[in-house]
Amino acid sequence: MEISALLLRWYDEHARVLPWRGIHDPYRTWVSETMLQQTRVETVLSYYNRFLERFPDVAALAQAPEDDVMKLWEGLGYYRRARNLQKGARQVVDEYGGEIPSDVEQLLKISGIGAYTAGAIASIAFEKPVPAVDGNVIRVVSRVTGIRENVGVPSVKRRIERTAAELVPQERPGDFNQAMMDLGATVCTPGTPSCDRCPLTGLCDAYRAGDPEDIPELPRKNPPKELDYDLCLIFSGDRVLMRQRTETMLQGLWIYPMLDGWHTMKQLPAAAKRKTGLTVRAVEAAGEARHVFTHQVWRMKLYTMTAEAPEAPEGWRFVSLDEMDALALPTAVKRAAEVVRQRLRSTESGLSQV
Ligand code: ADE
Repeated sequence: MEISALLLRWYDEHARVLPWRGIHDPYRTWVSETMLQQTRVETVLSYYNRFLERFPDVAALAQAPEDDVMKLWEGLGYYRRARNLQKGARQVVDEYGGEIPSDVEQLLKISGIGAYTAGAIASIAFEKPVPAVDGNVIRVVSRVTGIRENVGVPSVKRRIERTAAELVPQERPGDFNQAMMDLGATVCTPGTPSCDRCPLTGLCDAYRAGDPEDIPELPRKNPPKELDYDLCLIFSGDRVLMRQRTETMLQGLWIYPMLDGWHTMKQLPAAAKRKTGLTVRAVEAAGEARHVFTHQVWRMKLYTMTAEAPEAPEGWRFVSLDEMDALALPTAVKRAAEVVRQRLRSTESGLSQV
């Protein structure tokens, strides 16, 4: 039997039951496949339905304020995906009359849609026999066909993509692609795979050679850079100072003033003033936090402090607790936000007692 037949038979019995399956709505496939990039299925499950309730179709997403989109993406990471998804939705409305195109060439012209997402939408939503090659598929294809070179080399990656394209059947291409993903996620896993549960052992090169755990050879990754910051939680009455990031990393998300490097208590007021223009007093240490991104590790020390004057400097805003909870904050400052929440809650209850 061919790979596709074996795999589809396996899929009919073992497919994971997921909310984005069994539908032919390209918008839903676009949303789910965008969320699933670099993100575990279990994590996506809690975001997908909420996102679709708020933005049920391309038009709703295109019309929404960007801040609303970011808020629903809060905690999912790789926020550029959300901004590009919305940009793409606006493009579909403006340039394609609100209809998501069905062929890969057209899909690739839309913001946020790369080769993988285009293949996933075309095959899953439109039943086009095209591949959708993600990390799982790279692993399955390289093991089954015995591609032992480093998959970081572009020509090797292209070979895997060509091979994946040849394997996609005319019938049920979307199911086939998702079967590859499921096999990669649950059986043909990184490290030591569960070959005893695999439908493809009879034709798997790596199984025959006995070296599946050595395949694929992955590109060497640089260790993430460790960066030290002081986070200044600057209060004015029942508000705290924040700004919306414009930097590429975490663009559109809201954060507290961050000072490069760690400072002594004595240095902090001057450093906070240089950063924000505000004169502060009553600096107190409020714990530490650490967040691991793909390429960076943030090592943060948290400090609470009080602003002398109530006006926020240009580019900054004093926000109340309710306002803060409506903004999208990166997970990296979750601990800091908890410190802020406790302080503002006690300020509020303090005020109500007066
Ligand atoms: N990972 C990426 N896309 C997926 C899908 N459609 N189903 C399961 N896992 C996936």
